[in-house]
Amino acid sequence: MNPVALGVDKILETTVVGSFSRVGFALRSRLEAWIDPPSLAGQRVLITGATSGLGFAAAERLAGLGASVTIVARDETRARTSVSALRSRSHNERVDYLLADTSDLVAVRRVAETVAARGVLHVLIHNAGAISARRALSAQGYEMTVAAQLLGPFHLTRLLLASLATAPPGRVLTVSSGGMYSQPFDLATLEAPASDFDGVRAYARVKRAQLVLNREWIHHVTSRDVVFHAMHPGWVDTPGLAASLPRFYAVARPALRTPAQGADTLVWLAGARESSRSTGDFWLDRHPRFEHKVPWTRSRDPGRDQVMLWDWCVERTAAY
Ligand SMILES: NC(=O)c1ccc[n+]([C@@H]2O[C@H](COP(=O)([O-])OP(=O)(O)OC[C@H]3O[C@@H](n4cnc5c(N)ncnc54)[C@H](OP(=O)(O)O)[C@@H]3O)[C@@H](O)[C@H]2O)c1
Repeated sequence: MNPVALGVDKILETTVVGSFSRVGFALRSRLEAWIDPPSLAGQRVLITGATSGLGFAAAERLAGLGASVTIVARDETRARTSVSALRSRSHNERVDYLLADTSDLVAVRRVAETVAARGVLHVLIHNAGAISARRALSAQGYEMTVAAQLLGPFHLTRLLLASLATAPPGRVLTVSSGGMYSQPFDLATLEAPASDFDGVRAYARVKRAQLVLNREWIHHVTSRDVVFHAMHPGWVDTPGLAASLPRFYAVARPALRTPAQGADTLVWLAGARESSRSTGDFWLDRHPRFEHKVPWTRSRDPGRDQVMLWDWCVERTAAY
């Protein structure tokens, strides 16, 4: 990075608003003279949550770069509409869909089996996510935020490892959130009880746990076969943000990134050389970032957290 871009990036990182907003994207992309992500012709990508917002924008760009894109959606009508829009916008007919709610471990297994039967998978993107207003349980009885954004993705990844390792290195990308900077990792409070449920807090804790898992994965798979990266998109103008945080959305709207801007790093990670040579990192705007902004979210024993979370996920998914 040139010295001016580096200096500006460092300043932006100290200010959440500057870094997360469209200002951060505009300054970094211009000062660093970002070029288009590499072609993905011949690559197969599976992405969850591409019927809206960031996932849709990412799928459009991935298909535009030549990838064969399969979206995983929970609603068939929305899936069909999205596939048709993605095909026409990207001028790429190799876009299709599979149905699953990512919180449903049985449906996730069905998707994995279908994808595995097709052979190689180059990129798996865990993007589906939402803030639940009320506590709800998944088909297997787990709290919905945990089930949809941690257990389902864990299960899908495990079931697709062989397909990902077929054209090494396969890439597993997870869309976390800057919201996770507000929470430490604590396995005991990850699945909040009904008496103490706060949707925003539950979401931030799960987004933190995604990073813990991202780091643990690298101990279970060699980086020659599969690499793991998490990212956060900044603050992005999406239907999900408008619905889940309406007051924040109303105030922040002029500063929000477009979905395409929010999806830029995700798409770049899918093909960039830099992300094939490293693993376990957490990215914003095409650079790895620290996982903590305040000291009290740091763990005394990150390695122990990782192992405990791994075992916890295995225990809850193994039967499905
Ligand atoms: N927008 C932001 O500022 C922001 C910031 C940080 C992180 N993120 C993350 O970015 C990702 C995308 O969010 P977004 O803002 O683009 O929201 P969005 O517009 O609401 O899109 C969310 C997508 O996820 C799907 N989805 C949610 N729960 C699902 C489930 N259980 N099973 C299957 N699909 C599910 C939705 O499907 P339906 O169409 O069926 O609802 C939709 O396609 C999320 O992981 C979110 O946490 C967003």
